Amino acid sequence: MPSRFWPSCPVPRGYCFVIEIKNVSKSFDQGKSFAVQNVSLHVQQGEALILLGSSGCGKTTTLKMINRIIEPTSGSIYVDGTNVLEQDPVSLRRCIGYVFQGIGLFSHLTVEENVEIVPRLLGWPRDKRRERARFLLELMEISPIAYGRRLPQALSGGQKQRIGVARALAADPDYLLMDEPFGALDALTRDALQQELLAIKQKLNKTIIFVTHDIFEALTLADRIAVLHKGRLEQVGTKEEVLENPASPFVRDLFAKPTEQLAAFRRASP
Ligand SMILES: Nc1ncnc2c1ncn2[C@@H]1O[C@H](COP(=O)(O)OP(=O)(O)OP(=O)(O)O)[C@@H](O)[C@H]1O
Ligand SMILES: [Mg+2]
Repeated sequence: MPSRFWPSCPVPRGYCFVIEIKNVSKSFDQGKSFAVQNVSLHVQQGEALILLGSSGCGKTTTLKMINRIIEPTSGSIYVDGTNVLEQDPVSLRRCIGYVFQGIGLFSHLTVEENVEIVPRLLGWPRDKRRERARFLLELMEISPIAYGRRLPQALSGGQKQRIGVARALAADPDYLLMDEPFGALDALTRDALQQELLAIKQKLNKTIIFVTHDIFEALTLADRIAVLHKGRLEQVGTKEEVLENPASPFVRDLFAKPTEQLAAFRRASP
């Protein structure tokens, strides 16, 4: 039920797979190498799909192709049943919240103005924008009174990351694309925000594609996990499927090493 703080997004609903990636490849060097190669994925309404893989495996490139920051070399991507290449990129991006890797706040805008960017583009009145920005800053445990009118450089890395999340949620998009949004946070804050994100997802039926290279974060947040390796999809499945039936030695090792380390640490701890 839309409320004052969670207004509805104008994107039509009704498709089972709200985001579909079909045989998508991306080369930045005219086909000499591929950052993403023949990847197919679908995401259902209300699902959290985690893109998991090591540095350089193509996670960010995959995410950016969904809202047309990057265009695929081949293959197609559908959002709500329509090929993104047939959608106006500006309208598309307004309905998809995006948290950039490395934050990407505008340094000349205040914290509140950063959060208000999309609502302003959508023509929300000033009072409603400000009220929304303050609500989200409080949700992210950033005091709007202390920080709302300051420039981002006055904030810590973790605070900036939380403002990036608030900005992505500002116009209540149905879809959230989140590129390592909690990467610079300490373990406790990270855990709190992961739980907050799960609560938001459940309450508001958000569809989320979340990029991480942290296995435990993936296991905490995932409905399904897509493991990427050197631009290719190694496996996509539920937590149980990737843990119990890894599709390749790479997937097996990816999960085995950190869980073994954690078990060894627990054994060694008094
Ligand atoms: N604009 C670009 N021009 C050329 N090559 C690029 C560009 N963007 C990404 N690449 C290359 O594509 C590959 C995948 O990059 P991508 O940013 O998608 O990786 P990632 O999985 O997000 O890595 P990380 O975990 O380090 O963020 C890398 O080899 C990278 O160097
Ligand atoms: Mg990346």
